[in-house]
Order: sequence, then structure tokens, then C-alpha cells
Amino acid sequence: MLPLNHDKYSWYQILFLPIFFNGILTVHLPVVGGLLSAHLLSKKAGVEVEVGWPCSGPLLRMAEEAARKLLPAFQTPTGMPYGTVNLLHGVNPGETPVTCTAGIGTFIVEFATLSHLTGDPVFEDVARKALKALWKNRSDIGLVGNHIDVITAKWVAQDAGIGAGVDSYFEYLVKGAILLQDKELMSMFLEYNKAIKNYTKFDDWYLWVQMYKGTVSMPVFQSLEAYWPGLQSLIGDVDNAMRTFLNYYTVWKQFGGLPEFYNIPQGYTVDKREGYPLRPELIESAMYLYRATRDPTLLELGRDAVESIEKISKVDCGFATIKDLRDHRLDNRMESFFLAETVKYLYLLFDPDNFIHNDGSVFDVVITPYGECVLNAGGYIFNTEAHPIDPAALHCCRKRKEEQWEVEDLMREFYSLKKNKKFTLKRASDHGEGERAKDPEDAPSEKGGEKRNFKKSSHSLLSCPSQSFNSKLAVLGQVFLDNT
Ligand SMILES: *[C@@H]1O[C@H](CO)[C@@H](O)[C@H](O)[C@H]1NC(C)=O
Ligand SMILES: *[C@@H]1O[C@H](CO)[C@@H](O)[C@H](O)[C@H]1NC(C)=O
Repeated sequence: MLPLNHDKYSWYQILFLPIFFNGILTVHLPVVGGLLSAHLLSKKAGVEVEVGWPCSGPLLRMAEEAARKLLPAFQTPTGMPYGTVNLLHGVNPGETPVTCTAGIGTFIVEFATLSHLTGDPVFEDVARKALKALWKNRSDIGLVGNHIDVITAKWVAQDAGIGAGVDSYFEYLVKGAILLQDKELMSMFLEYNKAIKNYTKFDDWYLWVQMYKGTVSMPVFQSLEAYWPGLQSLIGDVDNAMRTFLNYYTVWKQFGGLPEFYNIPQGYTVDKREGYPLRPELIESAMYLYRATRDPTLLELGRDAVESIEKISKVDCGFATIKDLRDHRLDNRMESFFLAETVKYLYLLFDPDNFIHNDGSVFDVVITPYGECVLNAGGYIFNTEAHPIDPAALHCCRKRKEEQWEVEDLMREFYSLKKNKKFTLKRASDHGEGERAKDPEDAPSEKGGEKRNFKKSSHSLLSCPSQSFNSKLAVLGQVFLDNT
């Protein structure tokens, strides 16, 4: 149990005293995300929640307390945060101002959720400001580098790619756009996506290039990059996603796992990067793509992954990192993401009935201080450590009036959209819908009771598919008729 009522130290001081100087991204942000996810899932898990949940609760208060400790890192001239913050004293005076791109751009999912649940906008504001600062500092050809000085905004490492040091920035632009139904975040991503395709993509592989010139600097595929097909499927680009996935799967088949680095022209591992610490990314992509395509190849990757894990990495006390894929030697360690992410995504790949895959056909209605609210309708957004966030919860904790205006705005937008098909996010749905999309086989069903006497539109309201708005509109008594 966490020492919630300790009189001298608060819980985070006790948890983190030994590790005060670890990076925000790798240690403290996951704590916030884990607490938020646990807070939102607690009722479903049978915990007796306090009155006011999901707008209040002990785990939410802990998440807020932890997040407040990170805020001093954002006090820089650019709004881009330091990579490290001392949880008692704020940023250390001697702290390096160099932060990796992902360390700047991976806050919006947790911080926006926190802002929406607590009503304090400060978290979402700092996260957005950091995202925009990166956007403003992209190169003329539209790419971002690997590390930047958060004081001077000078790029310190100018390698542009989709993997280590950058990965979750792109992930959070897309996931933030879906979670918040935010066109600005999505259009940033789509612009990056154009430049990435133009300069880094060759034969459905993605290389590393110089961010100003676009010249290839490293023709390697990193195991961490294997999240990309999943991300592409979230924006509806399933064909490209599948082709890249198949490239990565050939590497898996060659070694029985994904080496940390793979030299693409040579078709082999890179010196000192031959290990496979049982990372989740390729399996994560398989899960998303399987929701979108039901292509059995994706289940085959899942089967291969289970076999490798069982046959190569299983030891008496757990599942060991594969130190070298060439001879399947093991290392004496098991990474935390193996249980938190790899196993979770594998489970979800093989469990079509999991509540996480809910397509909006069932949902719960809870009473909050602000009125009725829909939860658990699906469309869960996974943070970068695979903690699911229910996007519908973000609409539970604001005043009703405000909500109704928002819904009215959406209705107006929807109808004007149908008239003149100009819409920033249209692209995304042109290629079919991603994992969050409704399953086409699940035809509109009217059997959900009187609160659901609406027809599901065959196009989602906003192009980043989300069930929560439809369900919410239904609860508010609005009816969608889409006969097109
Ligand atoms: C980089 O971002 C900062 C913060 O938004 C901004 O002040 C600065 O002008 C940007 N630099 C360039 C070259 O755009
Ligand atoms: C693609 O790259 C070429 C140069 O190789 C450049 O002229 C063109 O503007 C780029 N297009 C986009 C959309 O980035």
C-alpha cells in the first residue's frame, strides 16, 4: 500500500526519493498515466468509488500531485521542458538544457486528461505549448531532429526519423488529436507525415535523414520504430501500414525477434544492437492493424511472438531479455514494458471480445456533479506505456451548459461538413477507418434501449473515429440521421 497519510513525506517523496534525478519521460510521466488509467478503470474493476468520481478520487489526486511536481520543468523561454526535474526542488541549476524530441512532445494525453478531469487547464496548456514549440522549430523541409536545446531552441542532434528520441512525439500528436478531437494536432501530424514519406521512406522502410538537407544519415530500422504501422492505421492509412508491417515482420522471421537495430541495405543486425528486450512495438502495431483489417498474417506474428517468448526467453523467474538474436543468448534482466505492454498487446490481439475493443454498442452512464455522463463506450486511447484512457471521461467533469454548447457546435460543424466537404481531417477517413473505427460488420443496431434510438452514421462525426461523441449525443437526446 502507498503511504497516503504519512505525516512527513507524501507518497511520491517516498516512492521517488531514491530516484530523484531520473528523466521525466521515463519515470515520472508513466506514473501520472498509470494513476489516471487506474482511476478511470477503478469502478469497472469493482472498486467502490467516491461520490464525484470520475471527477474526483484518491488516484486522481495522486496523479495531479505527481504532475504538479513536473510543471517546473516547463518554465523555459521556449515552453519546451527540461528532461529532468527534482521532485522536491524543481529544476536543478546545473541541469542540461538538451532534451530529446519525444521528451518534449509526450505529455498531451496524460496532461489533457488531467486538465479535463480536474478542471485545471495548466497541464493541457503546458503540454500544448511544448508541442507547438517543436512544430515551430521544424526545419524548412518539415522535419524535426532528435535533441533540442530548450533554452535556445537550437537543434543539437539533427537526425530526423520516426524512432528513438522522436517516436512518442508523433504518437502523441495522433493520439492527442483523437482523444481531444483536435484538428490542429492532427494537421501538424499530417504535415510531418508528408515530409517523413517524402524524405525518409524508401520501399516502405523508414530511414534516418539529416533534418535540414534530407540526406540519408543512417539506413537502419530500429525495433522502436515498429509502432509506426499501428499509428498509420489510426489515421486510416491501412495499406501503407500493412506494407511496412510486412517489411518488419520479415526481420522478425529472420531472427525470431526484432533486433534493436537492423541495417536495411545489408539485411543484418548492427554491431552491439543485436538484442531483443521483448519490446512491444511490433505486436502493438499488429493489434491495431488486426482491428482494422482482420488479416490473419497479423495473428501469425502474434503466434510467432508467443513462441519466441516461450521457447527462447522463458526462464525460472520470468522472461529474459534476448541479449543476442544471432545465437539467442539471454541477458539477466526483464524489462518492465514486457508485462506492461508486450503481454497486454498480445492478449488484446487474441481477445476480440475484450472490453477495450468495444465499438460503442454498449456503454455505462454515470451521474457526476455535472450531470449524466457516458463512460466505457470504447475508443480507448493507450498512452505510450499502454495504459488505456477512456476518451469519454474527458467530457464528464465540466459544466453541463458548456457541454451543450460544445455539442451544438459539433452538430453545426457536422451539417456544414456534409454540405461542403471541406474538412482538414477528411484525408484520414478517405482510406478507410483505423482501429478505433466502427466495425463495418457491426451494422447499426437498435436494440440498445431507449437511450440509443439513434442511427450510427456510416461516417464518423469527426474523421478521427470516436464513439464517445455519438454515444454522448444519444444521451443528450440528439438524434443523428445519416441516410447517405
Ligand atoms: C522555436 O520555438 C520557439 C518557441 O515557440 C520560438 O520562439 C522560436 O521562434 C522558434 N524558432 C524558429 C527558428 O522558428
Ligand atoms: C519532396 O521532396 C522534394 C525534394 O526532394 C521537394 O522539392 C518537395 O517540395 C518535397 N515535397 C514535400 C511535400 O515535402
